Amino acid sequence: MKPDFDKMIDRKESKSIKWDSKVLGEMFGEEDLLPLWVADMDFEAPKEVVDAMQEEVSHGVFGYSKRGEQYYENILRWYKKRFDWEIKKDWLVFTPGVVSAVNYVLQALVEQGQGVIIQEPVYYPFKKAIKNNGCRVVNNPLKYQQGTYEIDFEDFEKKAKDPSTKLFILCSPHNPVGRVWKKEELRRLGEICLENDVLIFSDEIHHDLVFEKGAHHVLANLDSKFDDHVITATAPSKTFNLAGLMSAHLIIKNDSLKRRYRRILEINHIGKQTPISMAAVEAAYGKGEPWLEALLDYLRGNLDLIDSMVKDHLPRAKFTPPEATYLAWLDLREYGFSGKELEERITKEAKVALDGGTWFGSGGDGFIRINFACPRKTLQKALDRIVNALEGK
Ligand SMILES: Cc1ncc(COP(=O)(O)O)c(C=O)c1O
Repeated sequence: MKPDFDKMIDRKESKSIKWDSKVLGEMFGEEDLLPLWVADMDFEAPKEVVDAMQEEVSHGVFGYSKRGEQYYENILRWYKKRFDWEIKKDWLVFTPGVVSAVNYVLQALVEQGQGVIIQEPVYYPFKKAIKNNGCRVVNNPLKYQQGTYEIDFEDFEKKAKDPSTKLFILCSPHNPVGRVWKKEELRRLGEICLENDVLIFSDEIHHDLVFEKGAHHVLANLDSKFDDHVITATAPSKTFNLAGLMSAHLIIKNDSLKRRYRRILEINHIGKQTPISMAAVEAAYGKGEPWLEALLDYLRGNLDLIDSMVKDHLPRAKFTPPEATYLAWLDLREYGFSGKELEERITKEAKVALDGGTWFGSGGDGFIRINFACPRKTLQKALDRIVNALEGK
């Protein structure tokens, strides 16, 4: 059965954080908003995944669970097929989420006061985790030139050379700017970190959502010399819309890093997955590929819609379609509002809930992030409202 991404699902009734009016009220000061903010999709997960969960539920017993070899085989096959990355079962370490893993990695591998590099504007929980764990945020701001984002390698190297810098959190592909880093860019980052003994946490949660086939490169797979320096984080949560199941995994080849990471899990007694999430993960990686390809096609169509709406109706906006993710990063600085004013206008006049650019740290002022993983009708409605609020049409 072909997935129907046009299907309108009433998520208000599904206890969704994204759609809940109380949550919207707390976050945005308005309850009646069209929500295109937090990064989950308004689409049903692949039928095979839903079926697998239903089968699990039909057992009626939900004790402590483990999964057989098929679970691991499906994950390993996925990486081999999609990224030509041969991983071994014992490199996989379960984590309830990628953000939890960032926190555990900081606790396992970074001392209080040590520096952690991030590249703003970037997914804001990184900064929060660094601060919450008593470490120091070291920003290597991305350079925005002619509508595209580049890495400032000189600045990166200077910051990596500081002996108190211990970790680099790479966002690959990058949320919110949508870049898929080129092989040469990744290699150069990896080499600078290697030379300066900086570990890398490579957050690749969006790496299945890349619009050009084969464009994404897994940093850890570029060269065996990175084996001891890179921890990769991935998950089926963004790919298959399973974020609420709290299931992600790290891929760590180096035994000492793995041991130190696992120690933190052990101290906190973290490690068990639910039988339902494991059934979903196994089915997603085993049977979800055709659904993902159909999703990417649909998302490309949504991107075209944003592109044409911007060209036709938002003359002062700049938009470079993302190379990956279902998140569009729109430059509205020419409208002349401060970051806060812009976000208020989108909330109060457009009545749309978006992640504001200011949330993503330096370089985010005057931008908005649109989550376009929704039926085209919803996207059109949100874009019409944004156009009205900015252009008064
Ligand atoms: C780059 C990035 N990392 C991590 C996450 C969240 O991951 P999790 O829900 O597994 O903590 C997101 C969600 O939007 C994200 O964009």
